[in-house]
Amino acid sequence: MSRERIYDTRFVKKGDREGLKFASSKIAEGEVVAFPTETVYGLGADALNEAAVKKIFEAKGRPGDNPLIVHIRDKSQIDELVSEITPVARILIDKFMPGPITVIMPKSDKVPYCVTAGLDTVGVRMPSHPLCNEFLKMCGCPVAAPSANLSGSPSPTTALHVMNDMDGYISAIVDGGECEVGLESTVVDATGDVPVILRPGAVTKEMIDEAVKMDSDYKGQLESGQTPASPGMKYRHYAPTADVEIITLPVTDADIDPESEDLDDDQKQKLFDIASPFILRSQAILKVNPAARIGFFTGREVKVLFSKIGDKILSSHVNFYVYGASGDVEAASHCLFDGLRLLDRQEVDVILAAGFKGDGLEVAYMNRLAKAAGKTGGDVPSHAYEQINKGVAEISLDEFENVFTASLLFVSEDDRNLGAICEGILTDLIRKKGPFCSVDDTKIGAELYVESAGLYAEDGRGPDEYSCDAFFEVTGGNITHHLSKRADVSVFDANDLILTVSDSQAFEVLNSYPELEGRVFSLSSYMASKGLVMKGEGGQIASVAIPDPEGQEYEVYKHTVAALKAWIEILFPYIIKDLGAQRFA
Ligand code: TXA
Ligand code: MG
Repeated sequence: MSRERIYDTRFVKKGDREGLKFASSKIAEGEVVAFPTETVYGLGADALNEAAVKKIFEAKGRPGDNPLIVHIRDKSQIDELVSEITPVARILIDKFMPGPITVIMPKSDKVPYCVTAGLDTVGVRMPSHPLCNEFLKMCGCPVAAPSANLSGSPSPTTALHVMNDMDGYISAIVDGGECEVGLESTVVDATGDVPVILRPGAVTKEMIDEAVKMDSDYKGQLESGQTPASPGMKYRHYAPTADVEIITLPVTDADIDPESEDLDDDQKQKLFDIASPFILRSQAILKVNPAARIGFFTGREVKVLFSKIGDKILSSHVNFYVYGASGDVEAASHCLFDGLRLLDRQEVDVILAAGFKGDGLEVAYMNRLAKAAGKTGGDVPSHAYEQINKGVAEISLDEFENVFTASLLFVSEDDRNLGAICEGILTDLIRKKGPFCSVDDTKIGAELYVESAGLYAEDGRGPDEYSCDAFFEVTGGNITHHLSKRADVSVFDANDLILTVSDSQAFEVLNSYPELEGRVFSLSSYMASKGLVMKGEGGQIASVAIPDPEGQEYEVYKHTVAALKAWIEILFPYIIKDLGAQRFA
């Protein structure tokens, strides 16, 4: 399957009317465009144009033998796509469209077989996402689309995810923000007498049962409903590079503010029940592999308890992705694919992910998580907790302390190459040298963040390929996912320390925002303020003006990364201190 980077992919920001017009005209021209829906982003093409549909498979890097869903913006479009609307289909359409459901019906002759992978049925879906509907309306045709991920990646739930997988391979990406649901639609076969769920989603079995039961014609037919495997199942779905283990939460109804000072014993116990299996399991993993990096996809209770027990060694091995309150399955679903992508990108060895019991959205969430865990299939049942309880006797709930956060901003011109490189280097250092605590109180953990922005940046551009390669060669790290963003007041405000790449940029920022005085430095003025002088290879005082390597030879990129790495390493202890943090002793 050929996959050639031949497009200058246009990134269409929210509110860019002209861009939306461009994107929809590309669909009409038979090209491929990624668009948001309330479930996940789709990779769309004119469903009635065979040549266009084939391009979807090329962009996705997978063979065209998995059927695609056809997206519509109005129910009146269904008639031309299907040869029959069964009574079951009618109920589902009336009750759940627009929404996160795909209804499988017998296809009409108009729908090409490349859309349905040779099947005589077609899946129809009417999303409820407003921008999606606007886009589909402008396209003027039904749009066939699978999820917009590269084959082997999790479905994308942000435009950034799509950018990571599809930049250069499609005409445009329409940014509609984070997908609300975060899991793909419920796929229901409605060709027979009873609805059959082929893939669970946010429209749950209970909701479908209820809808069918309410319909007087269908009372009583339901008992025979069964759940065969989805045809899509034969594809290995996303499995992160890391092993995934599911830790089923013992309680999900705990409504506890983990920061609260006065938890009663019952609340403390619940908090402990939720968090301790994660802690014990990671301790066990570290026993086997003392170098392991462990990703936690958990609720905030786990993180709070974790930071409060203050196991520094353990903390230095764990990366957190917190989806919200532990028991919030909607939040967990919303964040699951983003969390898996991010933790994988941070190159953890194992991901410990919260699992849910229950019949609602829990079914869809666990279905996706189980697929991600497929490789190892690990599930640590919560009843293992009895042993766990003994093992974590050293966790004392009384030692709870707070965590503070501080962040640094790198400012460059366009926030593509230099921004990505600086951010990548410092992020890596923080990860490797942590954990940190407050300068004032070693019991208070410090979480340090890094971001970058450009004074004249266009939003959403990635670094040059040379930058990414050079960064990898010099540091072993990965900056391919970096996207540029424009520096504005809110970005400045959100950061405690702002370092610009050149002197003139620091002047420019201070000129416009004099109130930032004391927080903004150029790399060289910051260095000078610490009494440091940078010497070049020949011992001469080196200029700290770092030109953007754009357009230069690869060697220049490499040199740029190496120089920035050297400088940021020297500045690192000062940066940490200025952010109010220090390493745990
Ligand atoms: O939420 C969603 O459904 C997203 C957004 C973009 O709409 N789309 C999506 O598409 O997840 P995709 O291609 O990743 O998954 C489509 C699923 C596959 O499991 C496929 O086998 C099933 O729907 N499907 C599609 N048409 C079918 C058909 N005619 N018969 C049986 N299954 C079908
Ligand atoms: Mg998919």
